[in-house]
Amino acid sequence: MSHVLSLEGKIALVTGASQGIGETIARRLAACGATVLVAARNQEKAVAVAASISEAGGSAEAVPLDVTCPSSVPELFKGIAERHGRLDILVNNAGITDDGLLLRMSKESWDRVLATDLTGVFLVTQEAVKLMMKKRVSGRIVTVGSVVGLMGNAGQANYAAAKAGVVGFTMSLAREIGSRGITVNVVAPGYIETAMTDTLTEEQRKALAGKIVLGRLGNGEDVAGAVLYLVSDLASYVTGTVLNVSGGLLIP
Ligand SMILES: NC(=O)c1ccc[n+]([C@@H]2O[C@H](COP(=O)([O-])OP(=O)(O)OC[C@H]3O[C@@H](n4cnc5c(N)ncnc54)[C@H](OP(=O)(O)O)[C@@H]3O)[C@@H](O)[C@H]2O)c1
Repeated sequence: MSHVLSLEGKIALVTGASQGIGETIARRLAACGATVLVAARNQEKAVAVAASISEAGGSAEAVPLDVTCPSSVPELFKGIAERHGRLDILVNNAGITDDGLLLRMSKESWDRVLATDLTGVFLVTQEAVKLMMKKRVSGRIVTVGSVVGLMGNAGQANYAAAKAGVVGFTMSLAREIGSRGITVNVVAPGYIETAMTDTLTEEQRKALAGKIVLGRLGNGEDVAGAVLYLVSDLASYVTGTVLNVSGGLLIP
């Protein structure tokens, strides 16, 4: 009997899977049977993640990807089409921050964050949708947004704009391709313990936890579980939605 969370036979691309949340998502999807393409710029790290997934009995391969580079994206998809012939799952996870108050924010900082966190999602998703439609797969697209895109955060106008942007992008695309059996959703984490949050002092961490209804920062597994739900058969009637995974930091 096949389990509803089984991803056996599925090909999944996870961007920004060389560390942090993306790495945990890649491990979780592989543990459920998917063949996972571990995509990032740093190939040394991506290869190490793929190797450790394989050692654990999963199926994974490292692929080079810079989501800000218009030639890197079609190159990757050419390789996917040649080697695997299909793509079932896309997780847009690659993201960066470059914080600063608006009055001091450079145009360069604005452009850099938007290029990775919003335009990168557009470039990768467009290629993924082409391949999914060509092969008529019941595809799953999940983008890792942020609650910051829903509630704002002082010092993150660029990041919040990009993360709000992926919500509108997702809702529009869900309407465009629902008839093809492809679902498109956002997972919006709150504060998650990764390299991105490593710089927080113990005091800042305590203050943050105090604002979170569940009383703790999240971890990669908290986000990966939400992604797994959305790419599984359990969520086959869920599209155009934002799943808030913030432990109650945001309760609208
Ligand atoms: N940590 C949090 O509290 C938190 C909260 C809400 C949302 N998020 C979101 O969750 C996602 C993952 O965050 P994280 O905390 O795990 O961050 P992280 O540890 O800094 O990892 C970011 C990943 O993105 C990749 N990446 C960055 N720029 C890229 C590019 N141009 N092309 C391809 N890959 C790129 C990095 O690999 P390379 O450098 O090798 O390319 C890395 O694998 C992001 O979208 C972030 O906005 C995080």
